[in-house]
Amino acid sequence: MNFVDYYNGPEKAPNRAFMKAMGLSDYDLEKPLVGVGVAWSETGPCNIHAMGLGYRAKEGVNSSGSTPRMFVTPLVIDGIAMGNEGMKFSLPSREVVANTVELTIRGHGYHGFVGISGCDKTTPGMIMAAARMNIPSIIMYGGSTLPGIYNNEKIAIGEVFEAVGKYEAGKMSKEELSYMESVAIPTAGACGGLYTANTMAFLTEALGIALPGSAAPPAVEGGKAKFAFETGKQISSLLEAGIKARDILQYDAFENAITVLMASGGSTNGVLHLLAIAHEANIKLSLDDFERIGNRTPEIVNMKPGGKYTMAELYDVGGVPLVIKKLLKAGLLHEGSLTVTGKTLGENMQNFQVHTVAQDVVLEIDKPLSSTGGLKILRGNLAPDGSVFKVSATKVHVHEGPAKVYNSEEEAFSAVKNDEIQKGDVIIIRYEGPRGGPGMREMLAVTSAVVGRGMDKDVALVTDGRFSGATRGIMIGHVSPEAQTGGPIAIVKDGDIIAIDGKVGKLEIKISDEEIARRFAQWKPKKEKYTSGYLHQYSKLVGSASYGAIME
Ligand code: FES
Repeated sequence: MNFVDYYNGPEKAPNRAFMKAMGLSDYDLEKPLVGVGVAWSETGPCNIHAMGLGYRAKEGVNSSGSTPRMFVTPLVIDGIAMGNEGMKFSLPSREVVANTVELTIRGHGYHGFVGISGCDKTTPGMIMAAARMNIPSIIMYGGSTLPGIYNNEKIAIGEVFEAVGKYEAGKMSKEELSYMESVAIPTAGACGGLYTANTMAFLTEALGIALPGSAAPPAVEGGKAKFAFETGKQISSLLEAGIKARDILQYDAFENAITVLMASGGSTNGVLHLLAIAHEANIKLSLDDFERIGNRTPEIVNMKPGGKYTMAELYDVGGVPLVIKKLLKAGLLHEGSLTVTGKTLGENMQNFQVHTVAQDVVLEIDKPLSSTGGLKILRGNLAPDGSVFKVSATKVHVHEGPAKVYNSEEEAFSAVKNDEIQKGDVIIIRYEGPRGGPGMREMLAVTSAVVGRGMDKDVALVTDGRFSGATRGIMIGHVSPEAQTGGPIAIVKDGDIIAIDGKVGKLEIKISDEEIARRFAQWKPKKEKYTSGYLHQYSKLVGSASYGAIME
């Protein structure tokens, strides 16, 4: 496809007429056109400020000799959709974001792409679009909220989800809960802990698709607006140098991103999204890469939900470059990976000043939280194609117990609420996979209810759905194949013994192969829940979580 000629030559006079009707001049149309895609709506605080950053990025594009055209992408605010039917639209929104960027840019012949992202799926959706279109592209994460203050402690939204469990268990009053919800998110910006949005923000820098240091400034910091301007400005340099998204999104860049994901103990969603981005970039990446890199990467980032701090506090001590510098020094990253600065990751970090202060947000490589990465890939007869265990979110890495089986998040949530779950149990939630849900909901309400009852060290949760980055406890998600497509999770019965071993990477159901075959002989997939609309289309096209739940 050739986009260059959309606005040149006598035969393109009608096309130019549309542009001139918006106030553009011949001079504007002679310059490269840059789509500035902003994930914005009034649906939540995560992106409420993003339009302002988009305008700042637009100024940067203009100042550097290119012509910006702004557009918005949709988004789903996970924290609002969570625990509801609406959460089924969350992961599918990633593909809509990617498609919106692609159709706007390709439909109008733009030459470059600047993306301003925020809430969880917007960052991967935008990077997927960049990889798919393979044009000069740069992404900036819109930043997270400042921490809330409750009882003199800094909190993030994860604490509010857990407080619901405490309230239901009679450990917190309604007034306290109400006060906490009022102070938990004090400003615009995405969730403050190292949940999915901030995990993906880390990965923009690790992949090299964002300016170094642009991820951590909070949404309301002046520094964020400065980065928006610089991000817009930088696209002209990429256009001039002919550096396209796939020049940056090489295999080494994905290894760097996996290393940063493991070192940070970030969200399990990072696995799903990196697989999907790699697919768009035409890079072969598999769960084996996560396993191999996880085994050699120490976990050094002390952030919520497993640790203590928020993104704003990471920013105060140096931001994501502090993490990257420590990993580079230890030889754990490819320093030669190209980035959007036109320089390598190593060169960027030589120039990036981190003021050295005593801190325990990012630990030393030789004094890590754990000697291996924060995520572990588990396989076995319950997950032949793999599953993901966020070992950074619990101290308990080995658990064995009887299954309590539920066919939806709602069923499992009421079981926890009605105190039907005992210490030692393994809660199985199935038919919540990409196709079966559809949409692979996050089980945060259930895990928070378990934590709120003080059972997070005694009860495990295994699902073909996903987990929020805010989740704590013994939880294994992305079990593949999923129940709807005939994965063994479909034939688990109440009382079956489930063995989880996060040390050796095993997830087993203790029944014989013959018994598994016998149960499958009587099994049928569930009737499709949606027969029209986007979820119907999604369930027809989406693939396994073990390949990133991509639509094909
Ligand atoms: Fe938007 Fe958490 S709900 S970042």
